[in-house]
Amino acid sequence: MTTTPTTVPSRSGGRPRYAVVGTGHRVEMYTHAIAGDHRDDAELVALLDTNPGRVEWHRADLERTGLDLSGVVLGGPEALEQVITERQVDRVVVTTPDFTHAEMIVRSLRAGADVVVEKPLTIDPGSARAIAEAATETGRQVVTTFNYRYSPRNSALKEVVQSGRIGTVLSVTFEWVLDTRHGADYFRRWHRNKEFSGGLLIHKASHHFDLVNWWIADTPQRVFASGGVKFYGSSNAERHGFAHPNPRGTHDRAERTPFELDLRTDERLKELYRDNEHHDGYRRDQDVFGEGITTEDTLAVVVDYAGGPVLSYSLIAHAPWEGYRVSINGSRGRAELDVVERPAVILDQDGRATLDPSAIAEAAGGRQRGHRLTVQHHWEGTREVEITEGSGGHGGGDALLLADLFRGPGEDPLGRPSDWLDGLRSAGVGMAGNESLRTGQPVRIADLGLGVDLARPAP
Ligand SMILES: NC(=O)c1ccc[n+]([C@@H]2O[C@H](COP(=O)([O-])OP(=O)(O)OC[C@H]3O[C@@H](n4cnc5c(N)ncnc54)[C@H](O)[C@@H]3O)[C@@H](O)[C@H]2O)c1
Repeated sequence: MTTTPTTVPSRSGGRPRYAVVGTGHRVEMYTHAIAGDHRDDAELVALLDTNPGRVEWHRADLERTGLDLSGVVLGGPEALEQVITERQVDRVVVTTPDFTHAEMIVRSLRAGADVVVEKPLTIDPGSARAIAEAATETGRQVVTTFNYRYSPRNSALKEVVQSGRIGTVLSVTFEWVLDTRHGADYFRRWHRNKEFSGGLLIHKASHHFDLVNWWIADTPQRVFASGGVKFYGSSNAERHGFAHPNPRGTHDRAERTPFELDLRTDERLKELYRDNEHHDGYRRDQDVFGEGITTEDTLAVVVDYAGGPVLSYSLIAHAPWEGYRVSINGSRGRAELDVVERPAVILDQDGRATLDPSAIAEAAGGRQRGHRLTVQHHWEGTREVEITEGSGGHGGGDALLLADLFRGPGEDPLGRPSDWLDGLRSAGVGMAGNESLRTGQPVRIADLGLGVDLARPAP
């Protein structure tokens, strides 16, 4: 871990001050960094959320790390502007649900703070315009955290393409499969409703579209998408013969189906969500075969890039294994990255998906967790590219991302740090994809009116 001093600006003259809005699951990556490796780089001054129970959960969690919480404001998002002004906040970390990002970003920028926002930047063209306007008018910084760029295998593929080893990029084929454990989880809570998440083309695929934009250093232009709710949802349960005896995952009966989530079996989930339902009615364990699901679980997308390459992309959220395959075809050859994140979803004796890696490995047979990056030139055999991993989460990628965030980005030949324009370039593909799903026609991103020319660097 580098010990470079932070270059993130500070208004108070001390450590840069951070307010956090949205204290659910994801925020922990940031709060634990502030309480851990980046204690000298950041001062936490506020934890804000509409749900006071979850604010308190994170306060108690941080207290156990020994972080000084005496001056930390605990409250709701209505306090954002006041906290920014009175506590001289330098940066607001936004980890609220996707549909609220734009409001939090715009309010923070206009109140005088920079922003670090989780992907996706936002979910629709109107809110994209509001962010573009606020960022341009205030000249403030909005970092969009695309952590997948920092994963060593994705960085290794970037190096291959950037080095010119496969020549001029002509096309990309990218298939991402989410399994019935992780994939199903998007249908248990707010993600299941496109109004809140933009659907998986925005919520999940914004990671993937960002990777492609970055790998091939090009700007997406035109999108055609097809897909639907083909696996989850009430009509599909009947169609495919899946039992869903209980409208809620958490139940007291002995029999269960593999799709149910019993919050009581996970202390953190129980404390964060089930025990705090009475505040706001947020249900973390909804029936994946229930009514009201609008988020597609099966998607195919074609994207034309400004420089000529074409992307062919597929996403499903109901595979028996999880991982991805990407092939980048160039004028001199082809690079292929195959990744298996979980080779199978295996049930334990209680009928729940097990997390035991040895049980999964044993049951999965030939498909094993791991990755392989190869390059093949015309008229030659395949060469494997070594992927150098570091320590910690995501092969050391998380530590690199957090160092860039909290100490300020250093010189990075791979250009991993990303701003709001990168956020729009990836979310824009999803927005055009959603419009294409709606109309059945190809959609030009420029016609969405995002309020900015995506081919230009950020103003
Ligand atoms: N980069 C990644 O790999 C990754 C992984 C997980 C989540 N995320 C992103 O992080 C964000 C949060 O996801 P999560 O899984 O933590 O969701 P979550 O539902 O667990 O947490 C969101 C929190 O925001 C709160 N909230 C809702 N509306 C609010 C509002 N108007 N003001 C303040 N707080 C509000 C909720 O009460 C909840 O505590 C999402 O944008 C998601 O896309 C990114």
